[in-house]
Amino acid sequence: MSLASDLGRSTDQGAPWLTPESYWPGLTEATGGLDTPVGALHLGALRHNTQDMLRRAQGTPIRVASKSLRVRGVLEAVLALPGYSGVLAYTLAEALWLAETVDDIVVGYPSADTSAIRRLARSPELAGRVTLMVDSIAHLDLIDAVIAPSQRGRIRVCLELDASWNAPVLGHLGVWRSPVHTPEDARALAVAIVSRPGFDLVGLMAYEAQIAGLGDRPAGRPLQGGLNRWVRNRSIEDIGTRRAAAVAAVRQVADLEFVNGGGTGSLESTHADTSVTDIAAGSGFFGGHLFDNYSGFQPAPAAAFALSVVRKPTASTATLLGGGWIASGPPGADRSPRLVWPEGLALVPREMAGEVQSPVTGAAAARLQAGDRVWLRHTKSGELSEHLNEFALVDNGIVVDMLPTYRGEGKAFL
Ligand SMILES: Cc1ncc(COP(=O)(O)O)c(C=O)c1O
Repeated sequence: MSLASDLGRSTDQGAPWLTPESYWPGLTEATGGLDTPVGALHLGALRHNTQDMLRRAQGTPIRVASKSLRVRGVLEAVLALPGYSGVLAYTLAEALWLAETVDDIVVGYPSADTSAIRRLARSPELAGRVTLMVDSIAHLDLIDAVIAPSQRGRIRVCLELDASWNAPVLGHLGVWRSPVHTPEDARALAVAIVSRPGFDLVGLMAYEAQIAGLGDRPAGRPLQGGLNRWVRNRSIEDIGTRRAAAVAAVRQVADLEFVNGGGTGSLESTHADTSVTDIAAGSGFFGGHLFDNYSGFQPAPAAAFALSVVRKPTASTATLLGGGWIASGPPGADRSPRLVWPEGLALVPREMAGEVQSPVTGAAAARLQAGDRVWLRHTKSGELSEHLNEFALVDNGIVVDMLPTYRGEGKAFL
């Protein structure tokens, strides 16, 4: 059976990850023949996440955020399922590579990759499949400087609207992306795009990072949780009104094929914005531990990695080989991998997860011996794939496939 039909299949296998004492040892057993570090994808958990995201999007198609997977086998399997459509890529070079098999790719971030822009502009086929992100005239100028409109076909572009919220007292909340903030800004840029030769304005995107990326129940930090819920709720009101107005203003000058918003953390609220035609999401498939901080949904820990214990500096300490697979974003303890099995392990505060070794303490550390394996979860989802050449796909206690990551395919895009 193909991975796509496996992911789409209805299941009565329950939620084995809710029973850690069998879930993690089951993964150890299944992958025991593979050398560490070993990455595992649990098929049942991946299926659960794939279907749960569709449930949460309530019929709004999901555009797959490829940066949060970086495994072509999974990307293509998900795209074969009803409810998933198109890719939000993270670089133009990646988009051109994926365009061999995928026909609707939006590059989620502006590109300054001149050789990739040239390749795109010279190929009518690629130019029909890939859409570039722009938020200013400078982006159009950059493309024209690489290859003039008279020397190329038309380039599909998507206008990015800033979805951050200018909060009272707190100021800018969200990420620094587009300078296009108001419906008037959006209309003015749309007018400029449609009046330039060589561009088709086909989409509008507004990614509400301060809603999608902010956990409303951070463990052990109730005050922060309260603040985050306030930011989420007020931002939902702000972007709901502003995005709809911007879309209406832009539609007066261009026939938009799509309006994109959201992420894994905001599927419900982005779906509720009726101006949005597709929601970009990706992290929810692998279920990095960042999402343990959300109250509205709980992705299964579908992706995890095992490291070997290689030494015992004391009877109560065990040292793992590797482990410092730290996530991007504001540095903090939540960016470290989480030790998930055996239970009762902790990183050592003065050393934490290191490039080549990670000592662990705690009750379970005394029982660990050289050669034993410890399971960890990455904070994010796609970044894990940058450390592995492949994932072992585990189903019913055995490895049923080996799926290469982008890295494993020799592709390090960012
Ligand atoms: C433009 C855009 N849309 C959506 C997302 C959400 O992706 P995910 O569901 O992987 O969190 C991101 C993540 O950074 C993004 O940059």
